[in-house]
Amino acid sequence: MLGRLNHVAIAVPNIADAAKIYRDTFGMGAKVSRPVAQPDHGVTTVFVELPNTKIELLEPLGPNSPLAKFLQKNATGGIHHVCYEVENIIAARDHMRAQGATITGTGEPTIGAHGKPVIFMHPKDFNGTLIELEQA
Ligand code: CO
Repeated sequence: MLGRLNHVAIAVPNIADAAKIYRDTFGMGAKVSRPVAQPDHGVTTVFVELPNTKIELLEPLGPNSPLAKFLQKNATGGIHHVCYEVENIIAARDHMRAQGATITGTGEPTIGAHGKPVIFMHPKDFNGTLIELEQA
């Protein structure tokens, strides 16, 4: 069912500092995007293009950010979720639900940070890892 690893998302307390690590320390230069505020998602994002996948840096945006609790527990930041590509988000959702996975929110796909339909699955069923599925 799973396709490519689309991205690994890292929650960060300061996205300018985090982007600098990838741009300068790792020397990724123009492969590091500018920060983009995504008020609908309660995050500011920076994407780092790697040859085989992306790194998504996430900084909380606004008082109800879904990252707030995570960063309270992980003050220096940490891996927040991994995103796998699937061919059909509804088929994937129905399959995972039938397997007993908990789909977060309403269970209906939402439009994710890349403009594509996504769902998130609760970490309790996946060894503590929040998993995003994205229709590629
Ligand atoms: Co993501």
